[in-house]
Amino acid sequence: MSKAPMWSENISINAGVISLSGIPVTDLARDFGTPTFFLDEAAFRSRAIAWRDGLKAEFGDRAGHVFYASKAFTCTALAHWITELEIGIDVATGGELAVALAGGVNAKSIEVHGNNKSLSEIDRAVSIGVKTIVVDSLIELERVSEAAERHGVRQAILIRLTPGIQAHTHEKISTAHEDVKFGFSIASGAAWSAVEKIAELPALELRGVHCHIGSQIFGTEAFEDAADRLLAFMARYRDAYGSQLPELDLGGGYGIAYLPSETTVEPSDVLPSLGKAVRSACEKYSLSLPFISIEPGRNIVGPTMFTLYEVGTVKDVALEDGTLRKYVSVDGGMSDNARTSLYDAEYFAQIAQRSSSAAPARSRVVGKHCETGDIVIQEIELPSDISPGDLLATPATGAYGRSMASNYNHVPRPPVVAVIDGQARVIVRRETEADLLALDVSKM
Ligand code: LLP
Repeated sequence: MSKAPMWSENISINAGVISLSGIPVTDLARDFGTPTFFLDEAAFRSRAIAWRDGLKAEFGDRAGHVFYASKAFTCTALAHWITELEIGIDVATGGELAVALAGGVNAKSIEVHGNNKSLSEIDRAVSIGVKTIVVDSLIELERVSEAAERHGVRQAILIRLTPGIQAHTHEKISTAHEDVKFGFSIASGAAWSAVEKIAELPALELRGVHCHIGSQIFGTEAFEDAADRLLAFMARYRDAYGSQLPELDLGGGYGIAYLPSETTVEPSDVLPSLGKAVRSACEKYSLSLPFISIEPGRNIVGPTMFTLYEVGTVKDVALEDGTLRKYVSVDGGMSDNARTSLYDAEYFAQIAQRSSSAAPARSRVVGKHCETGDIVIQEIELPSDISPGDLLATPATGAYGRSMASNYNHVPRPPVVAVIDGQARVIVRRETEADLLALDVSKM
């Protein structure tokens, strides 16, 4: 039987036992405990390389950067891999910048995002010489310009544009329609006002335009529409100022499989049609091909991790229609996976250390938090003999899982364990009770 598409490339499943890079989950659970995020490091590397090489193959000497969107998940070890893989990194806060720097990422590979960067975040980015700051408001143009003057440099910037595209994804992760906090609207004229303002600020070097239309997007149409609108804007700039902006950054958003019925977007599925759309728009507007950059986050890291839980209690609850729902409680929950409660995200899970021939039972996987909405999986069929002590694995939790984890109910956040070549090592350790108490100031 072929493996379901949510499991990363070095996962194998034999007689119901899930192994990563040859290590069975029973060994992983014994050595690292539960809940834990296990990361298929070779899969992370190969996904990053596929985007890097795919961009090169499609755009040749006009390939810009793959900026890995570190909000999806980052830590110092991962930042080291980014450097080794020779890709760039997108940071959206001072904290993400600090991790990139701690991991040895060169400032020239860092792109700085954020709709409300603080003065100190801007100052630090300018002072270390990051590659680009993606500017989000008129106020910020002035702030970046002042910082550049203070440091005696000319700062390269992109402006984030809102192309007015409705990407078909959850409202909370769709970003490029008009009524959002991000970017300068093209339609309202705000984007053009930004261009005019930049012309008055000699410490800023406008390198190009950026957009990010949303997240968990399938198909290429929305990206192609966005590219067309941004290139039209670049043509308007060329007509007004007599020279072409050299860079176009199309953001991230490429979807992944969370369920057996879904398919993860691969670079080879989207880059050729994106390349075609960009080239034909360039022809339409008589532009030469700019450097094309992208910012995939979820698509690189999402498929590479699974969460391993241990089942603690199982309860059959009678529903109003007389049927039963099995509530399977695991030792984590909304503190390590906020996506189900926030976005109605759907996940899959299976018993990880044994096979079962028991009849499937209508089930809900819930956590240990004091909240009804503490749900990991709303609706799933699990074997009716699922019991306390079973290990339960949820695939595709690499993106926005650990990175959005919280300490709700003072639950320590899980570790991340990277597994490669049959070796497992902790790259983010489990929080302890001491960590939870460390910020409390006890003296009154
Ligand atoms: N670039 C920019 C400017 C972004 O705002 C984002 C995501 C990305 C790139 C990466 O998008 P990706 O390739 O990962 O889809 N917490 C939500 C997702 C929020 C995404 C925010 N921005 C979730 O769990 O679905």
